[in-house]
Amino acid sequence: MTRDGERSPKKRLFIKTYGCQMNVYDSERMADALAPLGFAPVDAADGADMVILNTCHIREKAAEKVYSDLGRLRAAKQAKQAEGGRMVVAVAGCVAQAEGEEILRRAPMVDMVFGPQTYHRLPEMLAKVDRAEGAAGRARLVDTDFPVEDKFDHLPEARSAQGVAAFLTVQEGCDKFCTFCVVPYTRGAEASRPVASVLAEARRLAAGGVRELTLLGQNVNAYHGEGPDGREWGLGRLARALAEIDGIARIRYTTSHPRDLDDELIAAHRDVPALAPYLHLPVQSGSDRILEAMNRKHTAADYLRLVDRLRAARPDIALTSDFIVGFPGETDAEFAATLKLVDAVGFAGAFSFKYSPRPGTPAALAEAQVPEDVMDARLAGLQQLLAAQQEAFNRASVGRVLPVLIEKPGRKPGQLVGRSPYLQPVHIDGPESLIGRILDCRIDDLRAHSLFGAPAAPPEPERSVA
Ligand code: 5AD
Ligand code: SF4
Repeated sequence: MTRDGERSPKKRLFIKTYGCQMNVYDSERMADALAPLGFAPVDAADGADMVILNTCHIREKAAEKVYSDLGRLRAAKQAKQAEGGRMVVAVAGCVAQAEGEEILRRAPMVDMVFGPQTYHRLPEMLAKVDRAEGAAGRARLVDTDFPVEDKFDHLPEARSAQGVAAFLTVQEGCDKFCTFCVVPYTRGAEASRPVASVLAEARRLAAGGVRELTLLGQNVNAYHGEGPDGREWGLGRLARALAEIDGIARIRYTTSHPRDLDDELIAAHRDVPALAPYLHLPVQSGSDRILEAMNRKHTAADYLRLVDRLRAARPDIALTSDFIVGFPGETDAEFAATLKLVDAVGFAGAFSFKYSPRPGTPAALAEAQVPEDVMDARLAGLQQLLAAQQEAFNRASVGRVLPVLIEKPGRKPGQLVGRSPYLQPVHIDGPESLIGRILDCRIDDLRAHSLFGAPAAPPEPERSVA
């Protein structure tokens, strides 16, 4: 055992993360917030001192899934108690925000429920629960406030990065109120982190070996953080500043709304080589009537024009998107308009979903809900088309030379895995000393969704990135 271990035996923390990359980032920050209290992450709930379910509410019966996971946790909590220990069970994230007290009522073994705006108060909340326990009572706590204080100002600094690619939250919340979506209710109003704070975190990550940053936000291209000059900076300007940081070679951002893709951001795609030529730009539907009913605030033609402008600015840009089939009232012809848009754009990949009524959202109240079997058939048709486009895109990579950021050792000895600008996994042979380098690789083969290749030229010794 380490000396440190002898002095302070670590408490075991298990965090289960559901849903989006924002939650992945939040889970890491929760672990960071609890580290000073002696918590170290473990990868199973059994025997843990604290379990946090970081939940997602965006689709389907997400809340039900959390309740069934909680049911399974009960045995683990009882087993821990039988050994004379204690397991604190917490529900965080968007289900916590949406359900609040209801979770305590339905799941008696839950000790804490708290929403995404409160993670910086986690040590304080845990201390309250602990104090009650010390007094032989039990405190159960719900915190789903949207505090006026800025969560970004209070979260602990990210620990030194563990890999060559890292997430960085720059924006949170959404003011768009698409009629199907819970995000504006669970994540609250749009808020941007100040530029100086983003740059400081990015510099720290770069100093720890990070080469690629993915800027996160529910509506990330609505970013309008306060700049050091006192003015508001958009995402394009932020990307330019991030690209200047020593070591940062690639920048991505997700997820964007077509309405917020402004001229400045398109110009950044033209001018900043580090900005990956790969953009997730959800369109949801190709029907103008449905887009209007969704409150997306743009038409199918607006989207196609945007795609043309992006391609003019950065000809090698590839696009991915999100789609919803079976939005209330969607007719066959309206669904066909979505297929037509997909045909017109040619996507490198996409996520597609059956519409799922979310309590509290306007669309959930619509009477003309589309029958499940119709949604199933539409989803299958759309997914077939999207899968064919993705396959064609990946196949077209074979024979090309792509810059690959080498991320980690592969499964086979001597093999390395990296990512192309298009997030495709690329396997090459080479020594681990290449991890963190961006190598031009000739792509020779495609198997499943992975590319296989070899450095196009013998890797030169790493130049100073300064
Ligand atoms: N039903 C189905 N899909 C949804 N999404 C968001 N809300 C819903 C819903 N109620 C999808 C959208 C969004 C992605 C993150 O999830 O396509 O872009
Ligand atoms: Fe939800 Fe995205 Fe619409 Fe915001 S822009 S309401 S996060 S779908």
